[in-house]
Amino acid sequence: MTNKKPFYITTPIYYPSDNLHIGHAYTTVAADCSARFKRMQGYDVYYLTGTDEHGQKIERVAREKGMEPRAYVDRIVANIRVLWEKMLITNDDFIRTTEPRHEKAVQEIFKTIFDKGDIYKSVYEGWYCTPCEAFWTERQLVDGKCPDCDRPVELMSEESYFFAMSKYQDRLLKHIEEHPEFIQPESRRNEMLNFIKGGLEDLCVSRTTFQWGIPVPFEKGHVVYVWFDALTNYLTAIGFGVDQEKFERYWPCDVHLVGKDIVRFHTVIWPIILMAADLPLPKQVFGHGWLMLEGGKMSKSKGNVIDPLVLIDKYGVDAVRYYLLKELTFGMDGYYSEDMLVTRINAELANDLGNLVSRTAAMAERYFDGIVPASVEPNDLDADLKKTALEAVLECERQLDRIDYSSALGAIWRLVNRANKYIDETAPWVLAREEASQGRLATVINNLVEAIRVITIVTAPFMPTLPTRINEQFAFFKDPNQITWDEAKEWGQIVPGGRVHKKENLFPRVESGQRPGAAANKEEKTMDEPVVEATKEKEESTFISIEEFARMDLRVAEVKAAEKMKKADKLLILTLQVGDEERTVVSGIAQWYTPEELVGKKVVLVANLKPSKLRGVMSEGMILAAHEGEQLEVLTLAPDFPSGSRVR
Ligand code: MSP
Repeated sequence: MTNKKPFYITTPIYYPSDNLHIGHAYTTVAADCSARFKRMQGYDVYYLTGTDEHGQKIERVAREKGMEPRAYVDRIVANIRVLWEKMLITNDDFIRTTEPRHEKAVQEIFKTIFDKGDIYKSVYEGWYCTPCEAFWTERQLVDGKCPDCDRPVELMSEESYFFAMSKYQDRLLKHIEEHPEFIQPESRRNEMLNFIKGGLEDLCVSRTTFQWGIPVPFEKGHVVYVWFDALTNYLTAIGFGVDQEKFERYWPCDVHLVGKDIVRFHTVIWPIILMAADLPLPKQVFGHGWLMLEGGKMSKSKGNVIDPLVLIDKYGVDAVRYYLLKELTFGMDGYYSEDMLVTRINAELANDLGNLVSRTAAMAERYFDGIVPASVEPNDLDADLKKTALEAVLECERQLDRIDYSSALGAIWRLVNRANKYIDETAPWVLAREEASQGRLATVINNLVEAIRVITIVTAPFMPTLPTRINEQFAFFKDPNQITWDEAKEWGQIVPGGRVHKKENLFPRVESGQRPGAAANKEEKTMDEPVVEATKEKEESTFISIEEFARMDLRVAEVKAAEKMKKADKLLILTLQVGDEERTVVSGIAQWYTPEELVGKKVVLVANLKPSKLRGVMSEGMILAAHEGEQLEVLTLAPDFPSGSRVR
């Protein structure tokens, strides 16, 4: 048995009712990034993912396709496994709830709680949402529909087993109050506290109207409620009831990473199951935001799902992982767009990182015949680069520990940008002209190679093929799969005399929506005249022409009225006066502004944005706001500025 500290992280187990989309891939990539980071830090990581295969929804979908549920899910599960392989997911186990090991664990927990008296028999009369596999009371429905997904619910009346959740309400509240880290981020914690304070009802935990589930061990004809079954997977996989040593090693779990829609199941039902079974609670449930499309949620029925395999094929796995982890800021929703993906590839990966590596390798080849020189004449600029590197590593580590992947990447990019600036400041191509500055030139190249070594280490959890690919150029590591995180904290580790082989840019540039091809590599910057070259590169990727900008119709608009959108706690419906015209705009700023605060304000409207329907309301434009992390501020003008005026 290892003496490393254990770290247990899980994703939700996915419904294999259909192939997974890029939104599901987000959770798994995010957890993979944490798992890789913790392994590099020396933890004994157990990373679990899998599939949630029982329940009425799966049974129905399979029957609709004329298949047995088992045969149906087998096919989808095989696709999910391929997807995770392609996304370079390093899960230590893949659990399927149809496995015998799981059936045994669920039956054992169910029986334990029954024997204790916390599961009892009664009659359930109420509403059921099959897509969410959730029970609702009349009072909880919104307009007669599921309060979570807004879809129709079905009336149920069955003899069932009930779980005495209400009995645990105060104990759960106390736990959440005493352990602020238990539910993160803070906003979700508050939501859950309010939900629990509203009163918990006993939960129906068995069904008799369908068969596709785990049988209740002591009564024929009843199957265990699918969420009771699914949540227990977190215990099964680490040997509950079978391998006590393994179980005690990894339980309680360090993080259950879940989407915001299922935080309630993980922070109310799950802890109460554990309390009733006399087991410790997980240390943290982190509820991340959703990856949305401009028109709303991704869903098979809308036909708008984005297939991660297609994106990987087009842009490569590192780029797709980078994009996902960068795009969703801490706990909040993000919007998917292929244009943004391409912009990030060209600007942040090809330009910033790819060029830093290419330019450094090219200069090492050109000025030192591909041999890493020693640092012989250090000065203050070098000290600043070193300081930035150490700060970046520590900040990245801090952000990864709070599950803020986007800010962690932001910290790394401060170093990437500092290193690029260091090239401009030190101007190696000028140093190369004079014999007297050869010592300084050697030092600059040495420092750049060192910065790339540090960057390679800290980007590894996000983009796992980078260490091997960068190693082909710089041979930093004996085994790129064995790098430790702490190596990034030690500046000055590269050995002078090492060989450098310049290769193609790590990230070929792409034109929007196109497959990367030979032409995309044509403009790659290889040499060392950075000022002119850098500008040229930027022109092609991040700059737009004045004509392109002029296509945007930006107008001053006055907020005449504002109201919260029903059942959408993030959205406000604004009525804007734009000159003589009135417009309705739906804006996702309800977390930052009350309707009253906005009325009377002069804001900037993107007036020729294609109208789109959001939650049934046609939004005719978008208002501009600055947004960084948890901060957001709407751009405003002086109150007397005439509405309808153009903004350029
Ligand atoms: N089977 C349950 C989980 C049981 S865990 C004990 C389930 N499955 S799911 O397939 O519907 O969803 C799995 C996860 O994918 C959830 O965390 C959900 O939030 C996440 N996502 C689904 N669509 C998503 C996006 N568009 N964006 C981000 N995450 C999304 O719920």
